[in-house]
Amino acid sequence: ATGGPAPAPPPQPQDVLTPLTGAAVFLVLTIDPGGERTVRDLLPDLAGLRRSVGFRAPDGGLACVAGIGSDAWDRLFAGPRPAGLHPFRELVGPRHRAPATPGDLLFHIRAARMDLCFELAGLLTGRLAGAATVVDSAEGFRYFDNRDLLGFVDGTENPEGRAAAAAVTVGAEDPAFAGCSYVIVQKYLHDLDAWNALTVEQQELAVGRTKLTDVELPDAVKPPDSHVALTGVTGPDGEELQIMRFNMPFGSFAGGGEFGTYFIGYAATPAVTEEMLRNMFLGRRPGRHDRLLDFSTAVTGSLFHVPTADFLDDPPPAPPVPPETGAAEVAEAAPAPTESPATATASDGSLAIGSLKRTPA
Ligand code: HEM
Repeated sequence: ATGGPAPAPPPQPQDVLTPLTGAAVFLVLTIDPGGERTVRDLLPDLAGLRRSVGFRAPDGGLACVAGIGSDAWDRLFAGPRPAGLHPFRELVGPRHRAPATPGDLLFHIRAARMDLCFELAGLLTGRLAGAATVVDSAEGFRYFDNRDLLGFVDGTENPEGRAAAAAVTVGAEDPAFAGCSYVIVQKYLHDLDAWNALTVEQQELAVGRTKLTDVELPDAVKPPDSHVALTGVTGPDGEELQIMRFNMPFGSFAGGGEFGTYFIGYAATPAVTEEMLRNMFLGRRPGRHDRLLDFSTAVTGSLFHVPTADFLDDPPPAPPVPPETGAAEVAEAAPAPTESPATATASDGSLAIGSLKRTPA
């Protein structure tokens, strides 16, 4: 009635804030040289693929969040970069190390049931066959009362409601990417024999909470090297800085057994998660690293930008030449296109032909 165009609705985030589910698949992929086009083509289809699987089981609550790594960003998109996006920073403490491992794409697939996660993971990796390589995958399951394999309830102190949205959503600090998020993943393997050799009281001092009842230990009792003490971080005004964690246990009995926690933490800025990680691995004071690390080894570490759902539906244009493939240069040196592109790709398998094939006529 007042005239003028209606203000644009705020961007639609991906389903980051899906409550903890019974099952999850974590897929980390690297994009093969020349695979950029296939990856770009998949992004607007992600929502439809999720519906194809999820609609068949409406109670399954299937959700999928896609993340994009720092190097991949420049290979996929022209235009501005998200301010907080950088490769995962390795941490090397006196005793424990948080390695940085490759990762261009993350798919965090969650549902009440593993069949839904598995089916969607299959569709996504099928679409990316020949264009991206799965470098890490974990199938996470709910263990009793949302416990990790250390036996402690994991996820209790996640923020809720408005605080949860504020913790994970980029706002005015990076207006071009408002509604986006960042996510850090790390795969941890536990030494369960060593852990289970501790008394329950010793375990509770390592975590900072009671095991059966999941209550935080009083400050007077909670050691400074407990996990909860080191991951509690505050801002300049003393306010608590929060992230959203959706850790899941995973494991296998083959080869003597491999038992772990897949850590996944979403935040509006990776700086908060990175401060927690520094506290854990380097200690707030030298020599006081997180006691959980004496029983848990980080074997992967990657950081991803989580664009909005709107971004995925309609991504920005591709960069003129994918910087890491040098496609333009190689295309010139490629043989004259007398063979069919399919034969050429098969005989050569190189990115040169791939990029030639994709050059618009
Ligand atoms: C709290 C387990 C790694 C951040 C907790 C709790 C458990 C737990 C049992 C207490 C209950 C809760 O509030 O969820 C683990 C395990 C890990 C792991 C088994 C891997 C081996 C991490 C990492 C970070 C992190 C890598 C951050 C970089 C937090 C935070 C809390 C927490 C922020 C809540 C602290 C508070 O009470 O305010 N974790 N965690 N965790 N963890 Fe972890």
